[in-house]
Amino acid sequence: MLQEIHEQPALVEAFLKTHLTSLGEKAIAQGISSASDRLLPGSPALDAIGGIPTSIRILACGSSLHAGMVGQYLLEELTGIPTLAQSATDYSDRPLPLPPGTLLMSVTQSGETADTLEAMQKARHLDHEGRSAYLGITNQSGSSLEKWVDRSLYTSAGKEIAVAATKTFLTELLAFYRLALELALQKQTLPPETLQTLVEELKQVPAWITRVLEQQTSVIQDLAPVLAKAQSCVCLGRGLHFPMALEGALKLKETSYLHSEGYLAGEFMHGPVAMLDETIPVIAIVLPGSHLEKTLDNLKKVRMRGAFLIGITSEGVSDASSLFDEVIQLPSMDERVSPLVTVVPLQLLAYYTSVQRGLDVDRPRSLQKFIGEENSSANTVIPI
Ligand code: F6R
Repeated sequence: MLQEIHEQPALVEAFLKTHLTSLGEKAIAQGISSASDRLLPGSPALDAIGGIPTSIRILACGSSLHAGMVGQYLLEELTGIPTLAQSATDYSDRPLPLPPGTLLMSVTQSGETADTLEAMQKARHLDHEGRSAYLGITNQSGSSLEKWVDRSLYTSAGKEIAVAATKTFLTELLAFYRLALELALQKQTLPPETLQTLVEELKQVPAWITRVLEQQTSVIQDLAPVLAKAQSCVCLGRGLHFPMALEGALKLKETSYLHSEGYLAGEFMHGPVAMLDETIPVIAIVLPGSHLEKTLDNLKKVRMRGAFLIGITSEGVSDASSLFDEVIQLPSMDERVSPLVTVVPLQLLAYYTSVQRGLDVDRPRSLQKFIGEENSSANTVIPI
């Protein structure tokens, strides 16, 4: 798992080289992405409405669902297209036809997760007239997913051996940046300068991740004993940081068996805050941006309950040292690209907590990762 975490800067670099050089430099200069660079499936459903979906539905499970939730925030913010990320299991339980012109996306790094495939199958069967387009995000070419999508974007993360998804999650996030930027270009929803700024920020991500790995690992190793001896832990974030809080909590549960829950920081105040005391550490993602003041306000109330407060934060959060018991300091960055960096300390916290508890971090109990054919990167996490 640690090795896979450390592969991430190079993977981001490679992804940006393949996908963003053309999209960022050429397409932004031209004001629109050329047809050959386009990711969206050419489909009658979308061609009939100018190639731009009227709505987007994202179906996935586990970490891939969290990537889809980040995708939902990005797509809505950058393109204005109404988007919903939904658990594939939930969609399967109550499938409904989707509005005409919907882009239905499925995110599954293995391409083999039965719950996700079942949801896609149900959605396609309900779409008798072919009024939706279907796009997969996966790490595995030739997987079962391909039966249900018009086209796939491959995340090219290489084989992921450790059960917990790390580098495949990060590359799924990248796929959503790619798609959101493409649609923003096509729809002309953002001024070229804003797009250019985002592309420039994305290009910094490999260096930022490397910096976090180099400078924050020892801070996180020192925090691991605090988490390792806790019975429960809470991860908080607002906006884009909420799915990251869910992902951080999932990583801790999977690798360390630590009961951890992710919450919207605002929602947490409506009841769950009552359970807090000094035995429950709280990990909060707090970066400068649209939700900073409200998040700080929420955290002051958390602090009053005596909880040990860990801040994943950056310069620009002025009361950080007085508010938090420990700070994991990230470089300053545009909030919109931050999930690509905040994920790294969350992964490391899970990794070192598991090691501190003396567990087999790569092979957690009750989970099994299906690894595909020799030389393939298919895998999925199934309960055993
Ligand atoms: C989390 C994890 C699982 C998977 C989930 C979906 O670390 O590995 O939650 O994300 O089982 O798997 P895929 O993406 O293969 O559909």
